[in-house]
Amino acid sequence: MLDRPTPAIAELVRARRPGFMLPAGLYTRQDAFEADVDIFFHRHWIFVGFEADVPEPGDVCAFDVGRSSVAIIRDDNGLVQAFHNVCRHRGARLLDAGKSTVGKLVCPYHQWTYELTGELAHAPHMGRDFDRACHGLRKVNLRSVGGLLFVCLADDPPADFEDLALTMEPRLAPFDLRNAKIAFERDLVEEGNWKLTIENNRECYHCAGSHPELNVSFVAQDFGFDPAELDPAEAAAAAAHDAEFERRTADWEAMGYASRAVEHLAGHATNFRVQRLVIAGAGESQTRDTRVASRKLMGSIMRADLGDLHFWTHQSWHHYMSDHAVVMTLVPLAPDRTLVRAKWLVHKDAVEGVDYDLDNLTHVWTATNAQDGALVGRAHKGVSSLGYVPGPYSRFTEAYLDGFDTWYVERMTANGF
Ligand code: FES
Ligand SMILES: [Fe+2]
Repeated sequence: MLDRPTPAIAELVRARRPGFMLPAGLYTRQDAFEADVDIFFHRHWIFVGFEADVPEPGDVCAFDVGRSSVAIIRDDNGLVQAFHNVCRHRGARLLDAGKSTVGKLVCPYHQWTYELTGELAHAPHMGRDFDRACHGLRKVNLRSVGGLLFVCLADDPPADFEDLALTMEPRLAPFDLRNAKIAFERDLVEEGNWKLTIENNRECYHCAGSHPELNVSFVAQDFGFDPAELDPAEAAAAAAHDAEFERRTADWEAMGYASRAVEHLAGHATNFRVQRLVIAGAGESQTRDTRVASRKLMGSIMRADLGDLHFWTHQSWHHYMSDHAVVMTLVPLAPDRTLVRAKWLVHKDAVEGVDYDLDNLTHVWTATNAQDGALVGRAHKGVSSLGYVPGPYSRFTEAYLDGFDTWYVERMTANGF
């Protein structure tokens, strides 16, 4: 078995059968992982955080991805820009990952000092003839869409990102995320490949068996089911829910809140989907009791019953509700390790302990992320085993996984594999 030649990544990509999972090596191999990082995290637009991560001048946030790192900086004029987190002297990494507040950026190595605008301000002992103007920090492509920050490390970013921006800017506007407050964030490392994290996220087939907290507010049926398996009573309940979903969607649209699904999946470079979903129970928020967690609603929103604006990209998933938002971003760390960063946002004036209880705000997705992390670890163990053969997706409950894998194969092929 050990003598068998290792197939090229391109062979594994071509071997993927529509309707089935990916060949094992695409989840487990180091070379496939490096190709993934290069293609999906360096050449595509990735979601890296919020303007609210750097709310004041001098606030910086370093986001490490693959072998690179991006410094997101708000300058004294309030402008947010992104730069390669690399000193122009001998290339030292300027900032450690995470958030800080600075007057200027000072390289820890030889103290080259940069303005918040990226210009080089001081470079000791470089001589009077040294041209500082040519040694500012290198910019990274950055777009803010409704306060969501996307970067692309490539020189020629995919142009169809414009579709995402045009779709999401008006949908996000009522939440005024540019002025929201990040109430809490939590990092979790899942012991699995990043594509297993996304595949797990694209279905609610596993919700009934794994997510008691989320199931209170989330309607798994909206992510598909086999109608032939329902008894007459269940079929009637499903039909009633579908009718209610349609009625609520029409109401939201009539109020000016775009709610119907927009999908840019296979066939597009920039992968995203958005739809406003009905929240179960009282219909307000993904909380223990499905009521708002924050009594100060987001942005300009005046009513608590606007459902869940559910948005995803190829490396993030988002829930925007009347009272708060919860957003997960993933960063691949290794073939079998994936960072999942969760952030909860509220109105900038919402006060912890007064307007919201932090435990109530974070309860559902803290539990859900931990449960999902365990499932992804379990999936990775199986996929890494000799007994694994790519299994079939349910056409009822796992169509978005099939679509994700199809998109993955398309993008790998388009990028030379
Ligand atoms: S590497 Fe940054 S100052 Fe020398
Ligand atoms: Fe889940």
